[in-house]
Amino acid sequence: METSNLKKIVSPLLKWFDQNARSLPWRENPLPYYVWVSEIMLQQTRVEAVKPFFNRFIRTLPDIKALAACPQEQLLKLWEGLGYYNRVRNMQKAAIFVMEQYGGELPGDYGALLALPGIGAYTAGAIASISFGIPVPAVDGNVLRVTGRICENEGDIGKQSVKKEVEALLQEVIPASAPGKFNQALMDLGAMVCLPGGVPKCGECPLEKLCLARMHGREREFPVKAPKKPRREETRTVLVIRDGNRVALRKRPGRGLLAGLYEFPNVLGFLGQEEALAAVKGFGLSPIRIMSLADARHIFSHVEWQMKGWMVLVEELDEKDEQDLIFVEPARTRQEFPIPSAFAAYAASLSIEIGQKGIQTGEEAVQNGKS
Ligand code: ADE
Ligand code: SF4
Repeated sequence: METSNLKKIVSPLLKWFDQNARSLPWRENPLPYYVWVSEIMLQQTRVEAVKPFFNRFIRTLPDIKALAACPQEQLLKLWEGLGYYNRVRNMQKAAIFVMEQYGGELPGDYGALLALPGIGAYTAGAIASISFGIPVPAVDGNVLRVTGRICENEGDIGKQSVKKEVEALLQEVIPASAPGKFNQALMDLGAMVCLPGGVPKCGECPLEKLCLARMHGREREFPVKAPKKPRREETRTVLVIRDGNRVALRKRPGRGLLAGLYEFPNVLGFLGQEEALAAVKGFGLSPIRIMSLADARHIFSHVEWQMKGWMVLVEELDEKDEQDLIFVEPARTRQEFPIPSAFAAYAASLSIEIGQKGIQTGEEAVQNGKS
């Protein structure tokens, strides 16, 4: 790796940003809270998809006080479709801490930000630099890619040690007069010009003359990234159980994948028709009719679900007989019962919309390669 060219990027990069910065809702008024919310959302979803989620979140929870006080179901509902629900739970934990310790305002100190739940080096760096003008880097995948190409960094960007090294290098070149601008310029360049997948638009890049990979025709060889180990595959059978107007939901356990969200009852493995009927009876229900639903697939970061579905009509139950299932009118799920997008294909069979209509969500974005 050769890093002497890195300090020369500052001036052309800032000039490029003056002319090409994207207009983003959280940039107009980069309050620490806004930058925090946007950065957490952007860790999992692309900018275009984040905008409407961000606007709704801020409208509903305009400040840290409101976030700290928000009932958890409403909070999860605001996050529904973005995935990685622990991120928003951690945000709430941090908000409660900030209410208690800092009077409801995020601290203007990198170390204090880093100490908050769910805030790592990247998010702390983004808030510190963008909102408080503190000269610290914010190194995300975009920044690793851009710098990896400029310096021909042979290190694996999946390694923490390599990320730390890049942070240290950028700490030396970040301009004290415009740290937030510098960090965002690197992110925007990565998102708009120095694109992933071996197709950077070097002809449009303000750093073309400084970029070692470009000089050597090696843009496609950087950043260096070891292949991820494959995801574990799980087969599941999803039961869409209806009793006339209502559908059966179940609350997931408070820990682990999709903790605390609502789901259609489902079991490991592929069940045939008779086995599915037996499973429904196992819930204390009396099936009347069964119909097979389309197969579906959902990709999480570490596991992939291959799903098979059955729609089962059952006899109506008295409230008192309901076991761990709850029967609700499909329309009520929109307001009250957050269902993760993993079940979107089956929710669609009931005209339940998950997340925000017409918006590609984080969970789907994962399927399209952003993870
Ligand atoms: N990606 C993640 N955070 C970003 C930001 N603040 N600006 C542009 N792209 C980003
Ligand atoms: Fe990326 Fe090409 Fe610019 Fe180098 S010249 S930073 S590879 S876009």
